[in-house]
Amino acid sequence: MYAHAASPATQRVIVPDYAGLQQRLGVVQRRMDGRPLTLAEKILYSHLADAGQSPIPVRGESYLKLKPDRVAMQDASAQMALLQFMLSGLPNTAVPTSIHCDHLIEAYQSADKDVSAALVTNREIFDFLQSAAEKYQIQFWKPGSGIIHQIVLENYAAPGTLMLGTDSHTPNAGGLGMLAIGVGGADAVDAMADIPWELKAPKVLGVRLTGRLNGWTSPKDIILSLAGKLSVRGGTGHIIEYFGPGTESLSCTGMGTICNMGAEVGATTSVFPFSPSMARYLTATRRQTVADAATRAQSFLRPDEPVLASPEKYYDDVVEINLDKLEPHINGPFTPDLSFPLSQLKTAIQDNQWPDDIKVGLIGSCTNSSYEDMTRATSIARQAAERGVKTNAEFLVTPGSEQIRATIARDGLTQSLEQVGARVLANACGPCIGQWRRTDETEGQDNVIISSFNRNFKARNDGNAKTMNFLASPEIVTAMTLAGKLSFNPMTDSLLDQNGQPFKLAPPRGEELPGHGFDQGRLAYQPVVPEEGGSSIGTGTGSSMPPTSSQQGEIKVDPSSTRLQILEPFPSWSGHEFNNVRVLVRVQGKCTTDHISAAGKWLKYKGHLENIAHNTLIGAVNADTQQVNEATHAITKQTGTIPEIGFAYRKANIPWMVIADHNYGEGSAREHAAMQPRYLGCVLVLTKSFARIHETNLKKQGVLPLTFANEGDYDRLTGDGSITVATRGVKSLAPGSPVHLVITQTLPDGTTKTFDIATKHTMSEDQIEWFKAGSALNRIAALAGN
Ligand code: F3S
Repeated sequence: MYAHAASPATQRVIVPDYAGLQQRLGVVQRRMDGRPLTLAEKILYSHLADAGQSPIPVRGESYLKLKPDRVAMQDASAQMALLQFMLSGLPNTAVPTSIHCDHLIEAYQSADKDVSAALVTNREIFDFLQSAAEKYQIQFWKPGSGIIHQIVLENYAAPGTLMLGTDSHTPNAGGLGMLAIGVGGADAVDAMADIPWELKAPKVLGVRLTGRLNGWTSPKDIILSLAGKLSVRGGTGHIIEYFGPGTESLSCTGMGTICNMGAEVGATTSVFPFSPSMARYLTATRRQTVADAATRAQSFLRPDEPVLASPEKYYDDVVEINLDKLEPHINGPFTPDLSFPLSQLKTAIQDNQWPDDIKVGLIGSCTNSSYEDMTRATSIARQAAERGVKTNAEFLVTPGSEQIRATIARDGLTQSLEQVGARVLANACGPCIGQWRRTDETEGQDNVIISSFNRNFKARNDGNAKTMNFLASPEIVTAMTLAGKLSFNPMTDSLLDQNGQPFKLAPPRGEELPGHGFDQGRLAYQPVVPEEGGSSIGTGTGSSMPPTSSQQGEIKVDPSSTRLQILEPFPSWSGHEFNNVRVLVRVQGKCTTDHISAAGKWLKYKGHLENIAHNTLIGAVNADTQQVNEATHAITKQTGTIPEIGFAYRKANIPWMVIADHNYGEGSAREHAAMQPRYLGCVLVLTKSFARIHETNLKKQGVLPLTFANEGDYDRLTGDGSITVATRGVKSLAPGSPVHLVITQTLPDGTTKTFDIATKHTMSEDQIEWFKAGSALNRIAALAGN
């Protein structure tokens, strides 16, 4: 069923509406008294939902309501996003959207066998995604077609546009001048349903590049060294914007690698100014019209001149990197910000007593599988092959897309890599996301692998917490895998040829783009639905495009499936104050979205709300008992796990609430953390403070988030089933209005006492409508007449 092919060559290329974007930016900039703007600000402010009336943006303080141009989703996170979008009743997505089947393919035997196995194991998921794609005119990239970020770069990224992607490495498209932001499914649904997407105006960190990369140093080393400088949290709340003469000498795909790994320092996203290499890449990927339009609009696609003249004045911070002096870097193990210049790695290995033998070298993935990467790695492999040398460790190659796979095969690169022992995996995430059935019997043992991937948290690649994963450029990975030693420094050390004679590797040489153009590869891997682009609501994507009609296909979900479940709309608010609300648990201390909706083995239920709800709050500490995942049923007085009691309340139709500490719901944007409590009957969440994204997610799902007016009241409440809660002020809910809770507590002697506590909320007019309708999507459906 994945055979209906439409060649990307026939896809309609969407040329950004640069005139419209510049006009909207002009409105905002005039309201800011003409203040010079960074590139990140220019892209963000030109996508404001209401440029003429929104509050003047203040970086790090105000909230922006944005209209993204595009959405991209990978197969794991797309499931719940689509199930939610179905509730909107809309015939199409409001902006062009794509789905990429890349996360659910396990690397095991060979590319073709692994894709075939995934088609069997995950057929119901792929069938669902494809049928939903057909219904809503979403472009569906089949299993084996490639990794989301590579396909976006090859087909959809365009300078100056704004995209949301349901994957943390979405910023990869910043290499093509796009502001591409990794989000949770609920945020993607906002853009798909034309709800303005809210973002706290990020600060902007300027990274000034001077000089020129040379020898063994590659774009990967820029971000590996920057990660060492900034740490894994150093970019939080910031967009990283690169500027300076050094940007002009970088390839578009190299800039993509740098932006991709900006996620490792916690940055909102990363972006490069428009450059000739972007125009060359657009042309090579059949988008000459976008290249021409961007070239004409290049003043919009770069920071304003005064920003470049006085960067310290306009960026929140500035970091300098001189590419002439930059060394190759190796980062790891276990964290991407532990960064070593190549010349210092030997000492670090000795000091830390890390094993020196490399078990596996891996190149490619969404981070580093461009044509340039592959030619540079191959130039190293060919030098070894000429001397009869093979790798001294297993060597795996993950092409980022079918187009890359086919092009490197046509140009003889694959054969050269295979000659030294490489094995080519499917065009999919595979070992990068832990979808790797390793067969070299290292389970539970200390062992070293080195990859050109982006992330190296414990157990990420193979599930083994003892695997020490180092990160480097593809050419350094290739050289070290040939030597089989982590301590091998190709700039100073020699390999032994087949006769035992030492020889040194010459620095890698690469080609930015294939001389004979890209080969698009097997048609069977190309997208199912021809690009039509949804409606014309997106701000920057060609406002003259007519809305398309929806397909009337049936969305395929087996009612007996354990992995997918069609969502029922949450019930609308009754119109009355809440009464007899029970406290499921009073949570103590840190409670992240991981505590509220754990990942790991639960990930397979991401598309099945009822099944995944069995993990609700299992990581939470009960403040009354100090036990993790324990609650007491208010009526039966039985003790059980939190989800057990939650399901019991759902069955008995008992409304309940959570009481929590500070920063409740910090962590990821995971919408399951709001949907699951709502599914089980949660009506209120009362905290000392919320993580903003989670608070918004609760509002979207129709749960009322409240904070204590007096934090000390947290200690007057309990979660042991002895109190009931009634609200005063929900019926008259308005922005800024108070909500009082009337607490009735049954004391051990059977008597009761009643007291009031005051709470606050941050509901806006729109959000109050969501609450009344039962959820934001119910509201959208009502407005759409469904
Ligand atoms: Fe993510 Fe790696 Fe896939 S970073 S998109 S898991 S290739």
